[in-house]
Amino acid sequence: MARVKIKEILGLSPQNQEITVKGWVRTFRNNQFIALNDGSTNNNLQVVVDFNNTPETILKRITTGAAIAATGTLIPSQGKGQTVELVAKTVEVIGDSDAEKYPLQPKKHSLEFLREIAHLRFRTNTFGAVFRIRHSLAYAIHKFFNDKGFLYLHTPIITASDAEGAGETFHVTNFDLNNIPRNEQGEINYKEDFFGKSTNLTVSGQLEGELGAMAFGDIYTFGPTFRAENSNTARHLAEFWMIEPEMAFYDLNDNMDLAEELLHYVIRYALEHNKEDIEFLTQRLLDEEKQKPQNERSEMNLMEKLNFCINNKFERVTYTEAISILRESNHNKKKKFQYLVNEWGVDLQSEHERYLVEKHFNKPVILTDYPKNIKAFYMRQNDDGKTVRAMDILFPGIGEIVGGSQREERLELLEQRMKEMNIPAEELSWYLDTRRFGSCPHAGFGLGFERLVLFVTGMTNIRDVIPFPRTPKNCEF
Ligand code: 4AD
Ligand code: MG
Repeated sequence: MARVKIKEILGLSPQNQEITVKGWVRTFRNNQFIALNDGSTNNNLQVVVDFNNTPETILKRITTGAAIAATGTLIPSQGKGQTVELVAKTVEVIGDSDAEKYPLQPKKHSLEFLREIAHLRFRTNTFGAVFRIRHSLAYAIHKFFNDKGFLYLHTPIITASDAEGAGETFHVTNFDLNNIPRNEQGEINYKEDFFGKSTNLTVSGQLEGELGAMAFGDIYTFGPTFRAENSNTARHLAEFWMIEPEMAFYDLNDNMDLAEELLHYVIRYALEHNKEDIEFLTQRLLDEEKQKPQNERSEMNLMEKLNFCINNKFERVTYTEAISILRESNHNKKKKFQYLVNEWGVDLQSEHERYLVEKHFNKPVILTDYPKNIKAFYMRQNDDGKTVRAMDILFPGIGEIVGGSQREERLELLEQRMKEMNIPAEELSWYLDTRRFGSCPHAGFGLGFERLVLFVTGMTNIRDVIPFPRTPKNCEF
């Protein structure tokens, strides 16, 4: 008989219909009640075993973690917390699980412990919810862009450029590291390497994305990016996924409008399609907060926070305005910032971003027109000679979730900026060709996918929203 997923079963009206389910045992109580989960939903199906007519050898093998198939009839449930249950006629153990050795005991485990057994953590309620939401957000992103007529462009993973110019790339080579070819000057001879030049994993698909936008108008990328930044924080990964739309004939305002619309859309999509999972995570956070003193608890729960976010416009502020807000703040005057804000031109630390978002404006903020010296070479220069058409979107609890800009479309200004920043024009001549042949105003941004998943799930560590996190000194699984 065909297997029915538990999500579907829980929505059926019980009429003694015969059904087969397959899944993994969460718990088995009183030799009678199996809580069965198959990953389609956070909710378990109660399977009632007729223990008088089931051989003892089978009963013994129904243990936490075991894979089983059960066939029986669906009836209204007497127990609380569920509407239906399956009265099993047959139970087959497909894969045994030694209860003594199974690392996931039916109790609450810490997130840190679960990170060490990331290969099994999908089987917990929390991670089940997180990764179903992650899936939905990815789908919603593709749907959003597809419905708007954007083209999904696959930009390369291996490249010879460092788009952001931050020098945080991972090398790609097939050299024998014990015997690296060198030239007469003793330098590494990349001519002998696989690609005949020095190559690295991409930090961003933007530059290639711009080439696409100059032909298709509107494109987006959605792929993995790699950064060898040695930041061991709860918001940085060495391998993360990024969504990078790039639009011809867009200025910075169009860019901000699109980013805001995208964020509203995908959060609303998750609220509509992952209601149960978000409810579960909301309750999980409330339970956690009960251990904190009243004044440290959040004003809004997760569900309220998400609804607040989609029902309010983001605040748009220039960097210069933000600096004066920070400089004048009591926080700064009382020296509560680790990095005090005195001068115009400094890069904002995450404590400053969080102050603006969580204390001052109390909602998502889009900061624009940053000093050119703290931003990448490709951003469009303003007439003041000091700032560029950059935008960063800052979210409560997350900090920067989006970074983008209007691009410098004027060849001369771009070349001049590259010279100032020591970026060799010969290596990027293909990029400069877009400015030589039919250049036009254009803009784009990068949305950090894991930071989005962090926000929507209310999780606090980015390692808990990607299946197998890669961070400094850690590359398990
Ligand atoms: O601000 P970033 O560095 O911008 C770019 O890469 C541009 N090329 C994007 C563009 O305009 N097309 O990165 C964009 C976003 C950040 O706002 C953040 O959300 C995320 O990517 N991000 C990271 N997420 C996790 N771990 C890291 N190490 C990240 N670095 C950036
Ligand atoms: Mg950035």
